[in-house]
Parts: sequence; structure tokens; C-alpha cells
Amino acid sequence: MPVVLGIETSCDETGVGIVADGVLLGDALATSMDEHARFGGVVPEIAARAHLHAITPMVRHALDRAGIRFADIDAVAATAGPGLATAVQVGLAAAKAYALALGLPLYGVHHLAGHAAADILDHGPLPERSIALIVSGGHTSLLLLADLARDPVIHLGDTADDAAGEAFDKVARLLGLPYPGGPAIDAMARHGDPTAIAFPRPMTAPGDPPYRFSFSGLKTAVARWIERHPGPLPVADIAASFQEAVADTLTRKAVDACRDHDIDTLLLVGGVAANSRVRTLAEQRCAAAGVTLRVPAPRLCTDNGAMIAAVGDLLVRADVPPSPLSLGADPNARLTRAPIGEPGRW
Ligand code: KG4
Ligand code: ZN
Repeated sequence: MPVVLGIETSCDETGVGIVADGVLLGDALATSMDEHARFGGVVPEIAARAHLHAITPMVRHALDRAGIRFADIDAVAATAGPGLATAVQVGLAAAKAYALALGLPLYGVHHLAGHAAADILDHGPLPERSIALIVSGGHTSLLLLADLARDPVIHLGDTADDAAGEAFDKVARLLGLPYPGGPAIDAMARHGDPTAIAFPRPMTAPGDPPYRFSFSGLKTAVARWIERHPGPLPVADIAASFQEAVADTLTRKAVDACRDHDIDTLLLVGGVAANSRVRTLAEQRCAAAGVTLRVPAPRLCTDNGAMIAAVGDLLVRADVPPSPLSLGADPNARLTRAPIGEPGRW
């Protein structure tokens, strides 16, 4: 049974995971989040330097936790994109170094395919066909998935502007809440009334593209509301009402996509899938529509190395040819297939 080491460094998390046959053997995660907080967002140079410091210790930790040695590894997978260019480069360079030194195949992996594959580690193999709602800090996409290792990924819709997580981060800033904004709004919203303010549900009018998203107008609506209401801000009510608008829009479109395509499994993945209201509403609406909802544990929703190892494991088991060692980081890679840099394709 091949053992795959996976490395993720596309943003501010240095993640390493070890997976064999769909099972997570051990993982480790370091984050430079605190170093970015005072800038209100991730600073690529700081993230890249932090990856450089953390990558070797995280690989050691993951090996220790899995109770294995370098000699037990059969393949190395790394995020090759999308992400912050310098950050991706550090993880990819480390993966190449391990692959070269250990004489192992290298697999460049698309970060978003990793988010989708994360759920395999929690709930087993993916069904023949599924729909994935990927909601992260940089992406919001509704995807039609078949065999993640072999088949193309079909985009049903993406965001026209801000990603869902980006909207959480920006609205948190407007409310004076810390970065990253998603967890801060999630916590604050528990004390607020989600019906207090009727924020818009973007792109849900009849005639709007059914599976596309747009969150920049919603962020502006929150900013306008704040401008029009001087005095102490009802932060909890704004947080809860904003969160409700995002959760309502995301889950409505995702369940519609399942129904329209006659698909009975929805994967909810990416950092925003850690949101308590998004999870609850998705559960309710999927149950009502007869759709099986699969959501990984929150620690597998946000960026981690295990999810990249999970894709590497699928690719190895599907006999997909490895990537060349000349593979470069692709910061803007669009998700068309899970592997990046198969020979003959680049
Ligand atoms: O998937 P991820 O860790 O990194 C990217 O690939 O972008 O997602 C990070 C995003 C951030 O925007 C963060 O605010 C958001 O996920 N996030 C949340 C929650 N936890 C993380 N958003 C809403 N509620 C949460 N509980
Ligand atoms: Zn991510």
C-alpha cells in the first residue's frame, strides 16, 4: 500500500500530511497567521519565509505522528497552485528536494482538488459523481466531480468577484474584528440576531446565473449600513445577519445544483465550510432535498497537508503519471483536473 507525503504551502499554513489508501496516518501544521494579523491580511513574503522555517520540522512531526521513517514513503505530493507564488514555491521546492533525495515520484496537485479530497480522510471514498461547494479565502466554486484522479472537473459556477472567505475577512475588518475574519464573525454571530438586518442575497434573482456567486455587493451593503447608522454598532446583529446572507446564498445554490444535475452527494469544503451557520443550514437544506451532505471536520476544512496527500494517494492508486521535476508553481492555476504538471500536458 503506497504511502504518500503531502505538502501544502499555498497561503499562510505550512501543512504536511501522510496518507495511505485513503487513510490519514499522521499530519502536522504550522501557521504564520499571527504574523499577518497586524496587516489585516496575508503578506506573501512573511508567509514564504515562515514556510521556509517550518517545512522541515513539520515533515519530521508528521513522520513521527505516523510512526514511520523517510524510507517508508512511496511518493511526494505538493500544492503547485493556485496560491501566493512565493509561498507555493517553497513547498514545491521542498517536495522536489524530498522526491529527488529519496528517489520518489513527485505529484503536483491543484490546491482546490485537495480541499475536495480532504473529505475522503473523514468519510471514505467519494461517490461516482458529486457536487462540491468549495468556499475558501480565495475561491468560491460549485464543481461537478466524477473520478477526481482521472476525470476533468466541471465548473458549474464561480464567484464573479470576492470569494466567500474574503467577504468574511473584509466585513470583519469593517466591524473591527480580528483577522482571519471568518472565525471571528462566526463567534460574534452567536450573540446576534440573524434576522436583524435584511442584507441582500446576491445573484439569487430570477434570471441571475443559478450557480454563480458575487460577494462584493454584499460587503458594500454592510459598509453602507454601517455608514448610515452612527453611534455604537450592533456588531453581533450585523455579524449574524451578514453570515445568514452568505450561508443562505451558498447553500441555496449548492442544493439547487444537486437537484438540477440529479446528484445526491454534496461536498462542503474549504475554510468557510468551518462556519457553524453554513454547516447547519447546509444540513437542513440537504436533508429536505434528500441530498447526502459530506463536510470534513473543521481542521480538514482549512488549509492542511493531509488534503494534498489525499490527492497524491488517489493519483498514485490510479496510476496517473507523476509530474516532471521541472514543474513550476502555477499561482493562478484553474481547476480543470486534480494533478498539475502531468508529462505531455505542460
Ligand atoms: O481554505 P482556507 O483555509 O484557505 C484558502 O485556501 O483560502 O480558507 C480561509 C478562509 C478565510 O477567509 C477565513 O476567514 C475563512 O476561510 N474561515 C471561515 C471560518 N473559518 C475560516 N469563514 C467563516 N466561518 C468560519 N468559521
Ligand atoms: Zn485553501
